[in-house]
Amino acid sequence: MSAGKEGNTLCFFINGKKVTEKHADPETMLLSFLREKLRLTGTKYGCGGGGCGACTVMVSRYQPATKTVVHHAANACLLPLCQLHGAAVTTVEGVGSSRTRIHPVQERIAKAHGSQCGFCTPGMVMAVYALLRNKPQPSMDDITLALAGNLCRCTGYRPIVDGCRTFCQETNCCQTTGVGNCCLNRVENPEQPQHEKPQLFDKEEFLPLDPTQELIFPPELILMAETTDPQTLTFHGERTTWVSPASLEELVQLKTRRPEAPLVMGNTNIGPDIKFKGVVHPLIISPTRVTELFEVSQTPQGVWVGAGCSLSEVRSLLEKLLLQFLEEKTELFRALSLQLGNLGSQQIRNVASLGGNIASAYPNSDLNPVLAAGNCRVSILSGGGRREVPLNQDFFVGFGKTILKPEDIVVSVFIPFSRKGEFVGAFRQAPRKETSFPTVTTGMRVFFSEGSRLVQDVSLYYGGVGPTTVSAPKTCAAIIGRPWNDETLSRAYDVLLNELVLPPSAPGGKVEFRRSLTLSLLFKFNLEVLQKLREMNVITDELPEKVLPLPREIQPGLQEFQPVSKTQSDQDPVGRPIMHRSAISQATGEAVYCDDIPRTDDELFLVLVTSSRAHAKITSLDASEALQLPGVVDVITAKDVPGKKVCSFFGNDEELLAESQVSCIGQMLCAVVADTRAHAKRGAAAVKISYEDLPEPVFTIEEAVAKSSFFKPLRSIERGNVTEAFRNVDQIYEGEVRMGGQEHFYMETQSMLVVPVGEETEFNVYISTQWPTLTQDAVAETLNIPSNRVTCHVKRLGGAFGGKVLKTSILACITSVAAWKTNHAVRCVLERGEDMLITGGRHPVLGKYKVGFMNDGRIRAADLQYYTNAGSTVDESVLVVEKIMLHMDNAYNIPNLRGHAAACRTNLPSNTAFRGFGVPQSIMVVENMVEDVAMVLGRPADQIREINMYKGPSATHYKFEFSPENLLRCWEECKFKCEYSSRRRAVEQFNLQSRWKKRGMSIVPIKYGIAFAESFLNQAAALVHIYKDGSVLVSHGGTEMGQGIHTKMQQVASRELHIAPSKIYISETSTSSVPNTCPSAASFGTDANGMAVKNACETLYQRLEPIRKKNPKGSWESWTTAAYFEKISLSATGFYRGPDLYMDWDKMEGQPYAYFTYGACCCEVELDCLTGDYRTVRTDIVVDIGRSVNPSVDIGQIEGAFMQGLGLFTMEELKFSPSGLLYTRGPSQYKIPAVCDVPLRFNIYLLPDTHNPHAIYSSKGIGEPVLFLGSSAFFAIKDAVSAARSDSGLLGPFSLDSPATPERACLACNSPFTQKIPANKPGSFKPWALNI
Ligand SMILES: Cc1cc2nc3c(=O)[nH]c(=O)nc-3n(C[C@H](O)[C@H](O)[C@H](O)COP(=O)(O)OP(=O)(O)OC[C@H]3O[C@@H](n4cnc5c(N)ncnc54)[C@H](O)[C@@H]3O)c2cc1C
Ligand code: FES
Ligand code: FES
Repeated sequence: MSAGKEGNTLCFFINGKKVTEKHADPETMLLSFLREKLRLTGTKYGCGGGGCGACTVMVSRYQPATKTVVHHAANACLLPLCQLHGAAVTTVEGVGSSRTRIHPVQERIAKAHGSQCGFCTPGMVMAVYALLRNKPQPSMDDITLALAGNLCRCTGYRPIVDGCRTFCQETNCCQTTGVGNCCLNRVENPEQPQHEKPQLFDKEEFLPLDPTQELIFPPELILMAETTDPQTLTFHGERTTWVSPASLEELVQLKTRRPEAPLVMGNTNIGPDIKFKGVVHPLIISPTRVTELFEVSQTPQGVWVGAGCSLSEVRSLLEKLLLQFLEEKTELFRALSLQLGNLGSQQIRNVASLGGNIASAYPNSDLNPVLAAGNCRVSILSGGGRREVPLNQDFFVGFGKTILKPEDIVVSVFIPFSRKGEFVGAFRQAPRKETSFPTVTTGMRVFFSEGSRLVQDVSLYYGGVGPTTVSAPKTCAAIIGRPWNDETLSRAYDVLLNELVLPPSAPGGKVEFRRSLTLSLLFKFNLEVLQKLREMNVITDELPEKVLPLPREIQPGLQEFQPVSKTQSDQDPVGRPIMHRSAISQATGEAVYCDDIPRTDDELFLVLVTSSRAHAKITSLDASEALQLPGVVDVITAKDVPGKKVCSFFGNDEELLAESQVSCIGQMLCAVVADTRAHAKRGAAAVKISYEDLPEPVFTIEEAVAKSSFFKPLRSIERGNVTEAFRNVDQIYEGEVRMGGQEHFYMETQSMLVVPVGEETEFNVYISTQWPTLTQDAVAETLNIPSNRVTCHVKRLGGAFGGKVLKTSILACITSVAAWKTNHAVRCVLERGEDMLITGGRHPVLGKYKVGFMNDGRIRAADLQYYTNAGSTVDESVLVVEKIMLHMDNAYNIPNLRGHAAACRTNLPSNTAFRGFGVPQSIMVVENMVEDVAMVLGRPADQIREINMYKGPSATHYKFEFSPENLLRCWEECKFKCEYSSRRRAVEQFNLQSRWKKRGMSIVPIKYGIAFAESFLNQAAALVHIYKDGSVLVSHGGTEMGQGIHTKMQQVASRELHIAPSKIYISETSTSSVPNTCPSAASFGTDANGMAVKNACETLYQRLEPIRKKNPKGSWESWTTAAYFEKISLSATGFYRGPDLYMDWDKMEGQPYAYFTYGACCCEVELDCLTGDYRTVRTDIVVDIGRSVNPSVDIGQIEGAFMQGLGLFTMEELKFSPSGLLYTRGPSQYKIPAVCDVPLRFNIYLLPDTHNPHAIYSSKGIGEPVLFLGSSAFFAIKDAVSAARSDSGLLGPFSLDSPATPERACLACNSPFTQKIPANKPGSFKPWALNI
């Protein structure tokens, strides 16, 4: 079937407008249709696989049977266009617009400061909008559930939650105010009346939510649904035909004729396969209009649920039944509902079908183990007739395989009532608490003889411990016929351990953890069953503790900052919590990101071909087949580069496209240019590369060290005499800690558009980069043209975090070669998987230390060795290593301190800058060392920290003099605000009473150097134009990536020109307005650019002085017009020559920083020792950022950085295959913190009464420092683990690497269950993943 054939016309509505498509392509998803065809670019691409929520839209359908319209949130990236016939879609543009009226959801998220880079914001808006359409007065739980599938890498979620909280109608306390001062958690300062405390936003300003203002459901669609006779719909695409039968009979006939054609319901399994695995289905059958698949009927034994019902519908049905029937009848319903609540995200559950989940037979399906344990059955229909089949161990036969024959259709699923004495349990453990496939998941059922503890029947099913859902019949046999007691259970654990064996190299890794989970989840079931037997008076035993779920309700936090002085003019915005200047545009989807720039007619798209070998010679590159494919225009190789074939960076060259040899999987080899994204992608897949492997690739730090594979120079530093000092200490301890890398996971992937101007080799580069000048220079060198022919434009970035510097420039060079060669505009936007594969991230580190200390806790000597895994090119690795050396003292005055650091060269994608630039790794090792000292001495870690902190006039180990006064103030203030002592006692009390859940608490300090040690980067320029009408255009060298630099620059200009911020506009960062910019990095953007903008504005203000004097009562506009007529220049540049910083590595001294930003953070966590799951119950952060230019922006940076640090230290894990391939290439495999990870109480305090003479208006840089404070959660987990270990009699230091994932935390707890798991001997097997 081909595109030439006539099909039906697809008809649906988008934002109230009718859309008809004569040639709807079944392979087109709604997201690309919206963005590319309709140019509705508010809906964003973040991952393409349903894992990030950036593409959330609302889909509404009329149900003729009930005559109602149902609305649900869905991911546009997985929504086939063809499935929308008869639906009404609402996108963020349809919700509200700055041109007409913004919607309260958009307003509240924006004004509550919930939008930084803004890339996630439309998705957030839509998720909450869809919720409000169904429930205008939601609970907090509804809100956090609605947001669970939406990722944000900038804000830390707290402000989004607080903005949305204002829709809640829970009136029992001030939690509804959303202003962050809940009566429940306020730490009162009696000297400051509450009403005088400044607040981040004023909810009184908000528009009310008025449901009558929403778009109505199109009457035409109601008419269509009620009057049209259902008929088969067919849509033909380039490679695929879509058929939507109108009846069950027709569906059966179709499936009999074409059994190979998949049934696409929610498309959440088929969609990702098509997208990520390149699967092509010539025919797709869409049974969504077959009513029998959605029918629900009740029998005395249970309920039949249509297989087409979405998982959300199934859950609501079960919830309804739970209310209707006695508890004893609904055990299975309850367990299923619980499991459904944790499966995927709301968007996924709204479309994914029950039948689809069963038929997909995922190895770690959440539903199948429960359905199987609960004795469910499926009703199957095919050409051969109808049959019923039990959903048991015989149904699931292998990876993605069931006993269903290709022509079988699952029509419905029978879910039985439970019987008296029957209990069902469902448990899961996942890398992230919500929106994450489970690591291990179970369904368990036990049936007792009446009134006794004698087991008549039991079934145990697991997911995540084999290729499919598996049962444990031997274990069941060991339980059946016996009393449910410790003896039976302890035998059952042993049988289970032998029954469910995972080979040491099992796909997915985590073998010991998964095995221990099989036991500990059975133990959890045991606890539940005992509880129930006791409630039924069947047993009178004293029960072990009940393991309750971890707490989950996010309460409003405190955000304390200082008010501006009473004498400050009302118009002067400096120091006030001004909303991000683009927040409203971001919330309405109007904000333009690079890939939102409209396509031109002849524009081409570029897709890269990357190496599939880690270390090999390229023997041939054959593009002939690719060049024959439809739409493919050209293939760009290194030979096409007219100028330099490398990008130079700090004296090192990096190849743009590999020519002869590759040194990692993911290295760029060539690029295919075609008329569309899809064609370029198919072209790239058709390029054939042959390799000849080179011997012994190096992947791990240990391998690199063994082979001395380092990037030079190595760095060392020493103060005092370490060797000598070790002779005079009471104790010496040696330890090590490993820290994993981190993916930037900016929500906007690498994006650029290179447009040839058409004359004199001039190019416009629209790009998402932190350093426009680097791109400009690199493109010019690549094309062998002067820099004045290349203009880089950066409107905004959808997040960057250090990841949009060097690799972005390299990508721009390749794209510009394509633009130059084809003379067309060329666009390159990486898919999430490519982005993660190619661009590298934070350096993993192995830190080893030897520490000498006195029995009173004073650390006298420390010798630290750091190895970073730098990957295949040097990039910024040596600079990272230097920063590691410069921060290894953190807050501590260790008189004899020595450090060595090396960047290991390996055959992995090159690592690069990442927020904190080595500092989080550096300090993590030091803090771990301090914790070990505390554990050896048996003293609280905070005491050892305090004893060793810098005090009085101090100098760092590189002889930089500073005063630690504000560091100590932050520490003290943090201890006071978080009520450290009393809560520490409460934690100890909790732990005494609880065996399986432990609490842990930790407080850590930070001293973070601001500015570039490379002195020339400490400069900035600005260009300010005043137009005759008085409007002002500010340009400066900083790029807006969510950190609010443009907002702050607007504030600076407003203060200096004495005009309202509304008169000031910032359009973009452009190399034609401000040349020779420095990167927006090192937390120095505001310091540098702020001074440059100030300088330009001062010049202009002075120029206007004569005019003002002549007409002192005149308006600003009258002065600017008069100045024009008096021929006064209304344009000025500003410049800032920043501090002359340096570091002399030979002398081991210098002044590499302008000043330090200080902070302290205390976290308390609750850890489930049986699964390793944890929740941060409270976080208090105190930071000294001088006088904040904008407290809302700065608090946003603090919260966002903390959450990124929490991800780094507790959950984010990059996994590489033994051949060096990154496995974790999307949000399904790589988990960044989501809304479920926000501390339940998240309090931020800006240290009062501090000043900083080194930066603008006495402020301080804050972009990076707080990231390290996320380690406070790591150390709190370690503290909780320590408490669990002491219950097992294990005392003293123990090893816990970072991140402290549930796997690591659970295994470190050393519970009776983990102790049963035999450790696999390292070296005796090939692990699934490398320990790099
Ligand atoms: C981001 C994301 C997160 C997820 N998280 C989880 C999770 O935490 N836990 C979990 O268990 N699952 C999870 N899933 C998986 C999801 O639940 C399944 O993909 C979904 O249930 C499949 O249903 P569908 O309607 O989308 O199937 P489709 O993709 O439409 O179809 C899948 C397959 O099922 C077949 N099929 C569909 N209906 C029938 C039928 N009636 N009869 C016969 N065959 C049929 C199709 O032929 C096809 O082969 C997640 C998926 C995504 C994308
Ligand atoms: S782009 Fe659709 S969920 Fe990520
Ligand atoms: S604001 Fe959420 S990703 Fe940037």
